[in-house]
Formats: sequence, C-alpha cells, structure tokens
Amino acid sequence: MTKKITVLVCGGGNGAHVTAGLAASRDDIETRVLTTFSDEAERWTNIMKENDLRITVDEGDIKSGESVDFKVKLNCITKDPSKAVPGADVIIFTVPAFAHQSYLEAIEPYIQPNTTIVGMPGQPGFEFQVFDVLKDKAKQCVVMSFESLPWACRIAEFGKFVQILMVKVNLMGCIIRGQSKPSYDPMEAVQRVMGKAPILTQANNYIEPILATKSIIHPPIMYGKWKDWDGKPIEKKPLFYQGLDEEQARYLGGISDELVATAKAIAAQKPEVDLSGVLHLYDWYLRDHKPYIKDTTSLLTVLQTDTAYDGLVHPMKETEDGKFVPDFRYRYLTEDVPNGLVVTKGLAQIAGVPTPFHDEVIAWCQKQLGKDIIVGDELKGKDIGSTRCPQRYGINTMDALVNIM
Ligand code: NAI
Repeated sequence: MTKKITVLVCGGGNGAHVTAGLAASRDDIETRVLTTFSDEAERWTNIMKENDLRITVDEGDIKSGESVDFKVKLNCITKDPSKAVPGADVIIFTVPAFAHQSYLEAIEPYIQPNTTIVGMPGQPGFEFQVFDVLKDKAKQCVVMSFESLPWACRIAEFGKFVQILMVKVNLMGCIIRGQSKPSYDPMEAVQRVMGKAPILTQANNYIEPILATKSIIHPPIMYGKWKDWDGKPIEKKPLFYQGLDEEQARYLGGISDELVATAKAIAAQKPEVDLSGVLHLYDWYLRDHKPYIKDTTSLLTVLQTDTAYDGLVHPMKETEDGKFVPDFRYRYLTEDVPNGLVVTKGLAQIAGVPTPFHDEVIAWCQKQLGKDIIVGDELKGKDIGSTRCPQRYGINTMDALVNIM
C-alpha cells in the first residue's frame, strides 16, 4: 500500500477535468481543485452537489489502463488558495501557460517545503517563472515540467463530462529537486495520478526539454505562410502541416538547426550538462511519427505526408462574406512565441549562438502580437517582461542558466 498523498489540480479546463477526475479515482489520493478563473469554482461545486464527473476514454483501456467509462465525485473545488494549498503534496498546473503566473502568485503564500509543483504542460520558461515567483520557497520544493498534456481531451459538459480522445504512450518531463526532501517519490506520485499511460520518462536536466520543445513549430510555419500575405480574405482554410511549402520548411528547419547548435554550444561550455536528447526536428519526426509518414525524404516531405496531421488547418477567422483571414491571436503565436521561440532564442543568446532564423521569425511575430521583444538580434525590447526568456529573470550567463537555483 503506497502512502496516501494530496493532489491539488490548478485549472478548470479540459486538462484539469481529466487530471482531477483521474486523481479522484485513486484510493490513495485526496484530490482538490483550485480554479481562480471567473465563477468556475462555484459553478463546478454546485454541479458536484447533484452530479458526478464522468470520464470516458475513447481509445479504450488497452493503452490507458483505465476503465473506458467511469464516474468520480470531487469533494473540494475552490477558488480560495488558503483552503486548497495547505497540506497539498503535489500541485499540478493544468492551464494554458499564460495563466501560470497568476496561479503561482495565488499559491505562493501557502506553499510549504517539500511540495511538488508540476507544469502539465510546463512549456519553455516554466522553471524560470516558478523560481521567480516563489523565490527561496522554490528551493525547498520539487519543480517538474512535462512537455505536453498526456491526452487529447475535451470537456463535453462543464463539470460533468470530459472525454479523453487520445492517450500518449510516453511523456517526457524534467525534475528539479533543489533542497527538498519529500516523503514520497514525486515522479511516482504523478504517475499514480496518470495511471498506466502515458509512461512518464525523465529528461537529463531542465535545459534539454526547452531545446527539444515542439512549441517552435507553429511560428515559423505561420511566418512562412503569411509574411507576404496581401491582406485579402481567402476562400478556404489552408492545411497547416500538409500544406507546407519550401519556404516554410526552410524557416522551420533553420530554427531547428539553431536549437541543435545551441545544445552543442552549451555542452561544449558545460560538458556536465547532457543534452543528447535534443534532436533535430527531422530526426524527431522520424523517431516519433514514422508510422504516419509516407515520404521521409526531407523535413518538407515529412510534414507534407504526415497522416497524423490529416485535416489540420491554419487558425483562421471567418469574414462576413464567408471567406477567411489568418488569426494571429491564436495560441500558435500568443502562447508559442513568449513561451517557446523567445525562450529558445534566450538560451541561444546566452550560449553565443547566432540565430538569424529565430530573429527574423520573432521580429514578424512580435508585430502581429503588438509587442516589442527583439531588437536586431537581441532580446532587449520593452515587452520582454511578457515572455519567459531567461533574460527577463536576470539569467544572462551560462553559469546562471545551469545553476538556476
Ligand atoms: P483550456 O483551454 O481548457 O483551459 C481553459 C481554462 O484555463 C479555463 O477553464 C480556466 O480554468 C483557465 N483560464 C482561462 N483563462 C484564464 C485566465 N485569464 N486566468 C486564469 N485561468 C484562466 O486548456 P486545456 O485544453 O486544458 O489545455 C491546457 C494546456 O495543455 C494548454 O497549454 C494546451 O495548449 C495544452 N494541450 C491541450 C490539449 C488538449 O487536448 N486539451 C492537448 C495538448 C496540449
């Protein structure tokens, strides 16, 4: 019998419904939910008075090890961090990255030593933000960050019914233990919430997942596609991945080259930092998407023929006459630039690696976002504080990067 732990799920969206539902289905976990957004806590609490939360797993129980269809009761849903945080062993953030700061500020006064704080997903820069907001308290905590959500999932009915559409096979995360000495195994605790799948794997260090992030994929494709757009609405939503052309592939490949170069430069200066898990995007696709790819000749053909991307189109807004214009406020730019490309650029800047592809793409993206982040080839615009690049947190040297706490 494992030690009973208390898990606090932060958020009230798709991922939070699943995480809270799975945690509540385990006998050895006490589950709480903190949602500070709007009236979600009150609404969900009222729903729980009359209903259970139903969770279905579309892929069946072979991969997930879960029942295909089950119900749980959530007994503690609150917007009050003073009720939710004290006594929580593991705090899982399951919200879009833009909400991380407000949740960290909300939980900070109540955080106790040996708490595990998990970004699920964390996305690049999560660790910098945790250390910045929690200050010395973070040193007593375990900080974990996972590369994505473990599932594709959608709320069918808020508070009552969530569907898991797909369960990932593996999920990589990193762990920073600091001076913490929790009485439980943090990785085991998170795996206990997930169940049998995905299998959680551990990165060599916290820098490796940043340089291996997939959040660098969307911005260069958006840039290549729309940089010369004439502003006129178009008839059809273009395919995002399978519609890739040579120009977009050149930017995507160029950015990936710069990440690999950054990993090499860091490893050369700090041989103790193992970045062997930083693969070029092309190699990553061949490793993780191979069964879906029809033509493996190049990065261009890989994306054009990857059937895992069937039907996925550019984020577009419909005009009054039924045509379409690109949506530059979609998360492909609003999330993936400040919590992706700008963070990887920040690491390259510290490592002394030139990044012409990053610079050109960020310069265009910042215009679409109405921000001033990069000036020439340096992250020194006035809106750098709206990103999670290391420079924003005063991390400017290789020593500071490697020893963030
Ligand atoms: P979601 O879109 O369901 O999140 C919405 C929730 O975020 C809201 O219910 C609220 O609790 C919170 N929120 C929204 N605005 C807020 C604000 N201004 N302040 C504080 N909280 C606010 O997100 P979802 O689907 O759970 O995804 C979480 C993360 O996982 C995202 O970064 C997403 O890109 C990523 N992801 C999601 C997948 C999915 O299938 N849902 C798959 C892979 C990754």
